[in-house]
Amino acid sequence: MGGTGHSVFFLLYVLCVLWTLFEAESQKTSDCARWCPLNSRCVNATACRCSPGFTSLSGDIFTNRLENCDDINECGPRLAVSCGKFADCQNTEGSYHCECSPGYQLASGAKTFRNESENTCQDVDECSFRPPVCHNSTVCVNTVGSYRCRCRRGWELKPGFQNKQMNTTCQEMSFPAWTEPPGIKSQSLSNFFKKVQVLRRDFKPALAQDTIQNLITSVDELLEVPSDLDALALPERHKMATHLLSELERVLRTLAKAMPGASFTYRSPLNTELSLMIQEQGDGYTTIGQSHARMLLDWAVATAARDSDPTVMGILSSWKMQELLANASLELDPETKAKLKDLHQGPVRGAQYKLLSAVNLVFLSNTNTEHLDSPVTFAFSHPMETPGPRQGLVCAFWKSDDRGGGHWNTTGCWTRGTSNDSTTCQCSHLSSFAVLMAHYDIEDPKLALITKVGLALSLVCLLLCILTFLLVRPIQGSRTTVHLHLCICLFVGSAIFLAGIENEGGQVGLRCRLVAGLLHYCFLAAFCWMSLEGLELYFLVVRVFPGQGLSKCWLYLIGYGVPLLIVAISAAVRHERYGRSLYCWLDPKDGFLWSFLGPVIFIVLFNAVIFVTTVWKLTQKFSEINPDMKKLKKARVLTITAVAQLFLLGSTWVFGLFLFNPHSWVLSYTFTVLTCLQGFFLFILHCLLNKKVREEYRKWADWVTGNRYSEFTTSSSNQTQAHRPSESGM
Ligand SMILES: *[C@@H]1O[C@H](CO)[C@@H](O)[C@H](O)[C@H]1NC(C)=O
Ligand SMILES: *[C@@H]1O[C@H](CO)[C@@H](O)[C@H](O)[C@H]1NC(C)=O
Ligand SMILES: *[C@@H]1O[C@H](CO)[C@@H](O)[C@H](O)[C@H]1NC(C)=O
Ligand SMILES: *[C@@H]1O[C@H](CO)[C@@H](O)[C@H](O)[C@H]1NC(C)=O
Ligand SMILES: *[C@@H]1O[C@H](CO)[C@@H](O)[C@H](O)[C@H]1NC(C)=O
Ligand SMILES: *[C@@H]1O[C@H](CO)[C@@H](O)[C@H](O)[C@H]1NC(C)=O
Ligand SMILES: *[C@@H]1O[C@H](CO)[C@@H](O)[C@H](O)[C@H]1NC(C)=O
Repeated sequence: MGGTGHSVFFLLYVLCVLWTLFEAESQKTSDCARWCPLNSRCVNATACRCSPGFTSLSGDIFTNRLENCDDINECGPRLAVSCGKFADCQNTEGSYHCECSPGYQLASGAKTFRNESENTCQDVDECSFRPPVCHNSTVCVNTVGSYRCRCRRGWELKPGFQNKQMNTTCQEMSFPAWTEPPGIKSQSLSNFFKKVQVLRRDFKPALAQDTIQNLITSVDELLEVPSDLDALALPERHKMATHLLSELERVLRTLAKAMPGASFTYRSPLNTELSLMIQEQGDGYTTIGQSHARMLLDWAVATAARDSDPTVMGILSSWKMQELLANASLELDPETKAKLKDLHQGPVRGAQYKLLSAVNLVFLSNTNTEHLDSPVTFAFSHPMETPGPRQGLVCAFWKSDDRGGGHWNTTGCWTRGTSNDSTTCQCSHLSSFAVLMAHYDIEDPKLALITKVGLALSLVCLLLCILTFLLVRPIQGSRTTVHLHLCICLFVGSAIFLAGIENEGGQVGLRCRLVAGLLHYCFLAAFCWMSLEGLELYFLVVRVFPGQGLSKCWLYLIGYGVPLLIVAISAAVRHERYGRSLYCWLDPKDGFLWSFLGPVIFIVLFNAVIFVTTVWKLTQKFSEINPDMKKLKKARVLTITAVAQLFLLGSTWVFGLFLFNPHSWVLSYTFTVLTCLQGFFLFILHCLLNKKVREEYRKWADWVTGNRYSEFTTSSSNQTQAHRPSESGM
């Protein structure tokens, strides 16, 4: 039984020790709250503190037994953790870390970091990083966080694929199809297209540079003069030019994409220059071009909107092209016209021009160049030329029309300035450009008014003359017949001039040719009749007054037949020279104006010789022993009249030499005034200064007034009354 006593004692002892321990423990923990929740530790008997990365509603330390410690979201919007660029913040239970965004990694290769200052996230180059993933017809392009495949230079998309996809597949680029313009028959054009077909067949993207050079040389050869293109009519030439420009643009734009380098310049033996720039990326402003033309433009303008091919910019400057585009019309935009009108104080009716610069074909990847976001600036080189009065340098572009042809147009292009040998232009769209030296045809409103009023006066006077010559009996005779027809010719000529000299349409139509032909005829006829006057006088004085000079038949033959012959021959040789774009008059090209001026000068000289002879004979006769003074005095008057008339008509046309090419307004005004006064002077010369005619006029006046105011005229002079019976008999 003693063993059992021991065991109980031992058990009590253990319990005692445990109690002591428990007491000690409870003494110790009595100053630590035992209720502290998860993620917290006690501070003393009544407060707990959240672990780092956690917080309670009342802060780190809390005394409320119901509170919890919750995770702090360090990545949340209000907290000050910043991971930096290309990185994301990741919150964890009680902590956070930063990691690089997808497609980026830390330079060190580590996965996470905690502080922005440790951020070394950089784009992963998927292209070098991964095994080749793009088709071997493409090159891999690293993009943010990924990659794309884009066609190699000289390759184009296979049908059904899109560019810059992961599965993009391409095929070798080909020379674009280029067909002949329809309806133009020309051997040199056919030869050109044969060469193009060969270039097309043999085209290899790797040889794009050679192909471009050969193409430019072929174009040069096509435009080399002389060729059978010269024989083409203007509309066909312009059609061909339009076709050539637009197709060249398309082909060059494609071929340029196959060029290996970033830029390329070529100057052909015939001085055609091509500048190309091919780049994957760029921004800001870029200049391209060489000696003939330079261009400054925004990259954004050059880049095609959705295309992701390399961006291409190019200028082709061709002097040979000038020939093809030289004779098209120039359309000034309303703004320019308004400016010119202000400047010259007269409406602009049109402009002639000379092409100064090469024709510059501009092309970009961007084909939507009708309205550019930012204007493109050009500097076009050209031989120096100082504009004269009513002239100016114009930047114009070739505007194709719906019939396939085209013309020069200035809308949306501004001339910014000129230096010695180049002109700066700015345009809000792209096409083919050139600098033109334009000569503006500005209507002088004063001159136009003088002409209208003067011609109307002249017509009235001529009509009076015609009536006088027809009706006044005492002066009837062959000289009056000559005067009559002279006046009829001038009357008809002036009336046609007044009604139809202006060619409104710009195109020379049948009406205009007819007007020009009739004017040519009428004024020539007037001069022929004047030469007959000289002949009449010669017969009168030199042949000792034989009375009748030339027979009526001869008069009409010379007066109307000779000019008809001249006009007929002129029209047969060069009918297209009748009528000009602005005036329906003779086109002075290749000396055609001489078909008028030649006969005129001949007649003036012929009459001058006759008059000198006549005057000499007259003075001889005056010094004869017994001169017939009455007849001699009459002859003297006739001679003076004829000389005055010759002087009037002749000198008018001396000024007229300069007409329709009026660089001097003094000459234009003089000519206009003289022309308008012709009728008036003839009326004074042949009617008012002629005694017989004056008497006849007086009779007519009396007859008119006598009928109306008989009571008043009874008291007028005896002479008047004496004449009345004969008048009432008329
Ligand atoms: C426990 O600590 C909190 C904060 O430190 C304090 O406010 C409180 O008075 C302390 N309680 C005791 C009993 O010491
Ligand atoms: C990050 O680092 C900077 C400087 O190295 C230091 O001033 C800042 O306190 C750090 N921020 C954090 C949240 O560790
Ligand atoms: C692309 O690979 C094919 C075979 O898969 C080969 O025939 C072809 O020549 C390669 N093309 C290029 C441009 O490397
Ligand atoms: C290329 O991949 C795109 C998706 O990335 C897909 O829509 C398209 O059909 C694929 N094209 C071809 C030809 O497989
Ligand atoms: C074009 O104009 C020039 C100069 O005015 C002229 O020499 C040439 O013959 C004209 N060409 C055609 C086809 O009319
Ligand atoms: C000139 O070009 C502008 C812009 O392309 C066009 O609107 C206008 O009609 C053209 N003028 C003529 C006369 O063709
Ligand atoms: C214009 O040309 C003259 C001589 O040809 C030269 O001395 C001058 O520097 C040039 N001026 C400009 C602006 O190019």
